[in-house]
Formats: sequence, C-alpha cells, structure tokens
Amino acid sequence: MDYDITDLGLAPEGHRRIEWAGRRMPVLEAIRARFEAEQTFEGKRIGACMHVTTETANLMLALKAGGAEVALCASNPLSTQDDVAAALVDAGVPVYARRGEDNDTFYSHIHSVLDTEPHIIFDDGSDMTTVLHKERASQPIVGGMEETTTGVIRLRAMAEDGVLRFPVVAVNDSDTKHLFDNRHGTGQSSLDGILRAANILFAGRTVVVAGYGDCGWGIADRAKGLGADTVVVEKDPVRALSAAMNGHRVMTTDEAAPIGDVFITATGNIHVFRAEHFLSMQDGAILANAGHFDVELDLVALDRISESRREIRDNLEEYVLADGRRLLVVAEGRLVNLGAAEGHPADVMDMSFADQALAAEWIFANAEDLDPGVYVLPEELDQEVARLKLEAMGGGLEQLTPEQEKYLASWQEGT
Ligand code: NAI
Repeated sequence: MDYDITDLGLAPEGHRRIEWAGRRMPVLEAIRARFEAEQTFEGKRIGACMHVTTETANLMLALKAGGAEVALCASNPLSTQDDVAAALVDAGVPVYARRGEDNDTFYSHIHSVLDTEPHIIFDDGSDMTTVLHKERASQPIVGGMEETTTGVIRLRAMAEDGVLRFPVVAVNDSDTKHLFDNRHGTGQSSLDGILRAANILFAGRTVVVAGYGDCGWGIADRAKGLGADTVVVEKDPVRALSAAMNGHRVMTTDEAAPIGDVFITATGNIHVFRAEHFLSMQDGAILANAGHFDVELDLVALDRISESRREIRDNLEEYVLADGRRLLVVAEGRLVNLGAAEGHPADVMDMSFADQALAAEWIFANAEDLDPGVYVLPEELDQEVARLKLEAMGGGLEQLTPEQEKYLASWQEGT
C-alpha cells in the first residue's frame, strides 16, 4: 500500500486516541454499524482531504467498514496528527499527510489521493475540488462533500461562474453541522488552542473577536464565560447587533486594536488585522486565527515591521517591533484550534461526520439525477442526526397530542 506519513511507529498511540474519540461519537457509530451490515459502499472509492484528526479517522473507518476504498490527505499543513495518520495506515487506509508539510508536499499529497481515482471526495476548504478543476479537469468525479464555510463560499462562486463540474453537498450548511460544530466546537477549541500555546488567564482580559458568524459567536461567548471583557468586530449590522445584545462591546478594528489583550479572527476574510493595527497594539498582545485560511492576520506585514522574531513556546511566536513591543502569534496564524490544540472535541464532530457519512450515501444514491451544483442535505437527514444525538445524550423529545397537531395545522382556531 502506498502512503506518505511521518512515522508508522506512532500507530499504537493513534489507535488509543482514535478509540477514545470513537467512544464519544455514538451517532457515527450507529451509522458505521449499518454501513457495515449493508456494505453501503462496496466497490466504491472515496478520496478525502480533511484534517487528519481522531474524529476524521473514525469517519474514514466507518466508510471502510461499509466497503469503501478510502484514501486521505490533509486539508491543512499544520493540522495533521501524525499518530492518527500512522494508525490509519496501520488499519489499511492510505494516508498522505505529515504535520508541518510544506506547500508543495501539501499539494502533491492531494494529487496522490486523486491518483487513487475516487468516485466521490470529501473536502474541507475546497482545495481538492480546486485541484480537480484547475489541474485535473478531465478526471471523472461523481460528486463531493464540503465541510466548511470557506469551502462552501468557494463552491458557490464556482457554481455562479458556471464552472463547477459535479454536484457537491454543502455539509457545513446542515443545521446539525454549523449550529454546533462551528459554534460550540470552534468556540471551545479555539480558546483551548490559545490556552495550550500561551497558558494565559482569560478572566479580566480584553478579548477581541473579529467576525460574529457561527464561529465568532462561539468564541466570543466562551471567552465571556471565562470572565473576559469581550469586544466584537463585525461588518454585518444584524450580526453586530446580536453581538451587542449578547453582551459584547461592538467596535471597529481601529478602535479595538489598542485595547485588546487577545485578538481572534473568525471571518473567512483576508487581512482583518494589518500593519496599521499591529502598530497600535499593546505590548504582549496575542494574535490567533480560527478562520479556515491563514490570511486573516497579515503576517507578511507583521514580519516586515518587526525587528526580530523567535518561537517563545510551542506554537507561539514572538514578533518584536522596532520600539520593543512584543506581539505573539499562535500557530503561525493557521486554524488555532487545530494548530495548537486537537481541533473540535469528538462529541460535536459526531454530528458533523454523521452528516458527512449520510451525505456520501445520499450522493451515490442520487448522483445520476443531480446537475453540477451546490446542494444541502435533505432536512429529514439533518433532523435524524439531531434526534439520534439527543437520544445518545439522554434527552427526550416531546410528542404532540392529536389536538396539538390539529391546532398547529389549522388557521381557523383563534382565541
Ligand atoms: P460565517 O460566514 O457564519 O461568519 C463570518 C462572519 O465574519 C460574518 O458574520 C461576516 O459578516 C464577518 N466578516 C467578514 N469579513 C469581516 C471583516 N473584515 N471584519 C469583521 N467581520 C467580518 O462563517 P463561520 O461559519 O463563522 O466561519 C468563519 C471561518 O471559520 C470560515 O473561514 C470557516 O471556514 C472557518 N471555520 C473554522 C473552523 C475551525 O475548526 N477553526 C470550523 C468551522 C469553520
């Protein structure tokens, strides 16, 4: 079997951690058991470009149990857990991913997975999809799945330009994905990344969160819960207003730059904090990014205006400005929760990857009837994932009485 990973000897540790995550993924486990019994993916090849984490490993193993031939590469050069990559190879899944790989290796790994001629692909950020359009335009693909907001934005842009050449399920847009993974998962694990890198106390600090979408909502809310004085920067008036009503101060980047102790970007946009902001920040300010690409902090500009830089702790780089002020960047400005911590906890990835697994089944079943375009998972599957998760968490769902059903369906009954 062909593969490219850091060290196969790390497999035992990877197996233990994959098992640990699997215990907190009951919905995916129920789907895995059904896939295994039905051999849902017999004779199918699946290529995945995703963060190589313990939760992704459980998804890959569920697909393999269902009869699929699966190959995996990383969706970010810094998010690969080398022990997980080793355990997957040990379990018979070709993996092409090394933590810290350079850009050329990152793309050559995408090509290695595509060389396995997958029928469908799982993507996270649309890099594999982009390669399939720019460099491998004649390779046949039945369909795909996209995990994250930034990837979905890219796909919609491709569909709008009329260039998207196969159907893709925007898994991110399922309620059981973005309302939980982006909010609770990114919220908690981004702070986890900053804590592991810098070991600071959030209480009493001014934490500036740029972007109040699902991720920013989670981050700002959790930071507030830890006792931080939270500031939100938003461009959208409704989201900015909800931040204000959720108890955060709302201001511009220019206003926030001089007062923040910690800055966290989650916009999916480019150069949110730039040279002019860095020049007004306080000594010791910490900068982190939770958005998909490492472009939200303009680190090229920061490097340009700095006299020196050094790694002061693992995943924490200190830039010293001309006047001696020190700014600290976590995980090279890449996804902080994956670069400096372990990504989202399995409990929440259970739902995201249950959605992914069901989306793969759905796209195989429906591909012949689907035109190229961006699709969302049918609502009944979304509801089913929520129902199963709630059941696993021990929550009961209210059943309506016949009288209540009738009342809700009627327009004639009033006071
Ligand atoms: P979203 O679209 O719900 O929210 C982004 C928000 O940023 C929007 O409210 C938008 O108005 C705002 N925004 C855009 N440009 C801005 C600017 N220059 N200044 C201030 N606000 C600005 O997106 P979501 O789901 O919150 O995702 C955000 C990013 O995080 C995406 O890149 C997504 O792919 C990524 N993501 C990362 C995860 C992780 O594990 N770290 C998990 C899920 C998503």
